[in-house]
Amino acid sequence: MSETKDTLSITDNRTGKTYEVDITDETIKAMDLRQIKVNEDDFGMMTYDPAFTNTAACRSSITYIDGEAGILQHRGYTIEELCEHSTYLEVAYLLIFGELPTEPQLERWTYDITHHTFVHEDIKTMLEGFRYDSHPMGMLLSTVGAMSTYYPQANKIDNPFERYMAAIRLIAKMPTLAAFSYRHSLGLPYIYPDNDLSYAGNFLGMMRKMTELKYEPDPRLERALDVLFILHADHEQNCSTSSVRAVGSSQVDPYSAVAAGVAALYGPLHGGANEAVLRMLRRIEKVENIPDFLKGVKNRDEKLMGFGHRVYKNYDPRARIIKKHVDEVLDVVGLDNPLVAIASELEKQALDDEFFTERKLYPNVDFYSGLIYEALGIPNEMFTVIFAIPRTSGWVAQWMEMNGDSEQKIARPRQIYTGARDLTYVPIADREGEEKITGPPATRPIKSRRGA
Ligand code: CMC
Repeated sequence: MSETKDTLSITDNRTGKTYEVDITDETIKAMDLRQIKVNEDDFGMMTYDPAFTNTAACRSSITYIDGEAGILQHRGYTIEELCEHSTYLEVAYLLIFGELPTEPQLERWTYDITHHTFVHEDIKTMLEGFRYDSHPMGMLLSTVGAMSTYYPQANKIDNPFERYMAAIRLIAKMPTLAAFSYRHSLGLPYIYPDNDLSYAGNFLGMMRKMTELKYEPDPRLERALDVLFILHADHEQNCSTSSVRAVGSSQVDPYSAVAAGVAALYGPLHGGANEAVLRMLRRIEKVENIPDFLKGVKNRDEKLMGFGHRVYKNYDPRARIIKKHVDEVLDVVGLDNPLVAIASELEKQALDDEFFTERKLYPNVDFYSGLIYEALGIPNEMFTVIFAIPRTSGWVAQWMEMNGDSEQKIARPRQIYTGARDLTYVPIADREGEEKITGPPATRPIKSRRGA
């Protein structure tokens, strides 16, 4: 029997040469392929992976996902256990420090976060400059980025104290920025944080408090929101987290890096999906319209939002946990939301359909989260913002891990150049070509302030 080795032999059929590269953690190093050349002047072999679908860009000990089995663990603990026994702030500590906190550690962590929830008054003025109907994600993105100007010392990214302070400030202020953006969009006065309330309770208060002297959240809603925060805290190298890492790899301050994460999360294929799910359910309107809708999806006229995942090829474990909470929250608020029936039936019919099962498309976290937010009376535009609040702890944990990783360098992918080369410059009078710009002229008479 031949001896087995942890290496991969590659034969280049262009030259007949064979190369041996090491396999570590079931992975080969892309740079090991560079030795594969046709001749000495050749740049060497690269890999082509446009969406990083099969490329590990880091080593990480924060979050483990087994997409085939539908498993999600943070620092070794299953998401089910964390949702059952922990609070969001405890999970944030776990993500950042690697271990569950002791009682005094959690007390200090909670104290520090609770005492950094206020934002500079100038940020309020900045928010007031936004149009009344601005999307709160756009406002969040801008104000998180602006925080780097209030805390310029955060650019000392090698200083552990500054890193800690940035972590505290980001996690503490994100709900305040989110709630202020929300109140702005409603034309309501901003509500300052209340240090007597829990992290989730305070966020609910800043969104909902009106004339009452003290806002008292319903503990069941507070817990449901806290569980949603736990579920969204981290999800390894997704689009926004890899954006935070890529931008952070330039050694910019953490506020700017996290602003990049907020921007990535804004997109409908990522955090914006929960908002899109609600729009989709409303458009379907009633259970009887589901077969027609699914026909449209299969004809590729549109996507079934809240279904499918790059990593999970099974039921997203977060969706399972959220689904359990939907009815609970609806019970508390006493709402019989017809969209719940449409969502349940849509899920059932899709999971009975070969198109979806063949492609391993199952509900993801966003399929049901929007329904809970809706039951909490939160408008659609805020859904992605509420995703951003807890994901901040994941972004910060991943940013810190990257900073301490000696293998990391500035992110800088390669390309396969497909354009022309070495052309002779043509004077403008001699050029010919088809019209490239279509549509009406870019400047039109201004009819309204929007788009002016
Ligand atoms: N509806 C209909 N078809 C789909 C869907 C969907 N939601 N998702 C994937 N497919 C099809 C896709 O057309 C492709 O079919 P084919 O092989 O015949 O061309 C096949 O399934 C594989 O899909 P893919 O686009 O190659 O998968 P991906 O890994 O590139 O995309 C995804 C993952 C999440 C972007 C995609 O499933 C999607 O757009 N889903 C809807 C948006 C959504 O719910 N996003 C939230 C993701 S979870 C929260 C988060 O982490 O951000």
